[in-house]
Amino acid sequence: MKMNTTMNSNLNPVFPSILSTNFFNLEAKLNDFEKNNIDFIHLDVMDGHFVGNLSFGPAAAAAIKSTFNFKVDAHLMVSNPAKMIPKFIQAGSDWVSFHMEVVDKGKVNETIALIKNQSCQAGLVLNPDSPVETVFPFLEDVDFILLMSVFPGYGGQKFIPGTVEKVAALKQQIREQGTQCLIQVDGGINTSNIGSLKKAGADLFVIGTFLYNSDDIAATINMIQDKIKGV
Ligand code: DX5
Ligand code: ZN
Repeated sequence: MKMNTTMNSNLNPVFPSILSTNFFNLEAKLNDFEKNNIDFIHLDVMDGHFVGNLSFGPAAAAAIKSTFNFKVDAHLMVSNPAKMIPKFIQAGSDWVSFHMEVVDKGKVNETIALIKNQSCQAGLVLNPDSPVETVFPFLEDVDFILLMSVFPGYGGQKFIPGTVEKVAALKQQIREQGTQCLIQVDGGINTSNIGSLKKAGADLFVIGTFLYNSDDIAATINMIQDKIKGV
């Protein structure tokens, strides 16, 4: 099942995560993102079981899609992705990723198929302490790999520096296999670490707190993009 996303050159590599936002001014923030050419919103879905936090349901994906032009990148931090995938796709998610830590190796491809069969882009997610080799057998079958640079569950955590080496090892394997699989990184990303992630081979960057702490989204996004382009 060889279906990969080619990184179309004008895809904005910054994927804001709305987990850390103040929900009372979420609409204003999303308007800001829209004005600053953000293409994707990263929706952190938590079930209170795989991670110790609860967050959004499919209704959040539907609300974003019905109100804004964004695509939705649903990151499922859930113990039963096979049950949740159809609900988030039904709600309008464009990209869906699930954690390798909760699916038996023999079930990974059928779970990927639940996403690809609905013409959505499929991603596999690895926690910081899961070996990068875990995803090597699936690089031809998915559109992106999401490497967590924090342990999932909460925004605002400290970036785990070892992620840079993990990105480089994954990029090496993608090159050797000749697949188009993209590398997305998520957690604790800011202008002090995004350059080394890009240099190591990362394509897409999920950013929550660093964006939400900004009082000038346009300037912050420009700073981030300059760091990415500067590599
Ligand atoms: C953590 C989430 C991340 C996180 C990123 O479980 O997957 O998307 O919210 O946000 P920051 O940038 O705040 O670490
Ligand atoms: Zn996430």
